[in-house]
Amino acid sequence: MSLTQQNPKTAGRFIVFEGGDGAGKSTQAALLCEALRKNGHQVLQTREPGGTEIGEKLRSLVLDHGQGTVDARTEALMYAAARAAHVEQVIRPALDGGTMVICDRFVDSSLAYQGVGRALGEDAVRSINEFATGGLRPDLTVLLDVTPIAGRSRRTVGADGASVAEDRLESEPDEFHSRIRDAFLHFAKREPARYLVLDASQSIEELARAIASALGPLLVPVTETP
Ligand code: TMP
Repeated sequence: MSLTQQNPKTAGRFIVFEGGDGAGKSTQAALLCEALRKNGHQVLQTREPGGTEIGEKLRSLVLDHGQGTVDARTEALMYAAARAAHVEQVIRPALDGGTMVICDRFVDSSLAYQGVGRALGEDAVRSINEFATGGLRPDLTVLLDVTPIAGRSRRTVGADGASVAEDRLESEPDEFHSRIRDAFLHFAKREPARYLVLDASQSIEELARAIASALGPLLVPVTETP
């Protein structure tokens, strides 16, 4: 993984967290945002599907149980539609304005879940996403690698110890989640310069430290230029 520093005052960077359900992406994304803000960066934390009004509606349609049959192609197009709105309305304007964008999931989730998990094929899913995003790619993707069993046990227990219901994708069998995990690891191997792969079984603090040390240049405090 390499992340060369641009002018932090003007260059928005696009950092994406990926990984299986229950990997701890949202927690780490929030900690990274906090560290960046502390150092004077303008930061936007967002997620997919979601981040816009229409995207949050699509999120409910695609993830909630009881919305009717969602076949694989429809599912891929719903994620891509939510992403198109997200890129157009939120991500690109923020990056253009010099804001760091920290996003929970992006195109690689569609390549893994719909391309591989739903067996639509990576190429077909990539092409609808090229159209949706206009080819926007993350500067860095942090992959939190979690086993299907560990992911399920984490996501089904809330902070208060009460059990949490799984959504439509989460409730797929371990075999599905295992293929998603292999797909992410394969993507990371194929593009090592863009990916930082971390073992999600580490503690929250250990993971945050590993991410901070990899992003060292970006965590240098922003100084006012005269
Ligand atoms: P989240 O719970 O991590 O926010 O992600 C929502 C679910 O949607 C998760 O199970 C992964 C799935 N997903 C896809 O299948 N394709 C996608 O493109 C995205 C962004 C998420």
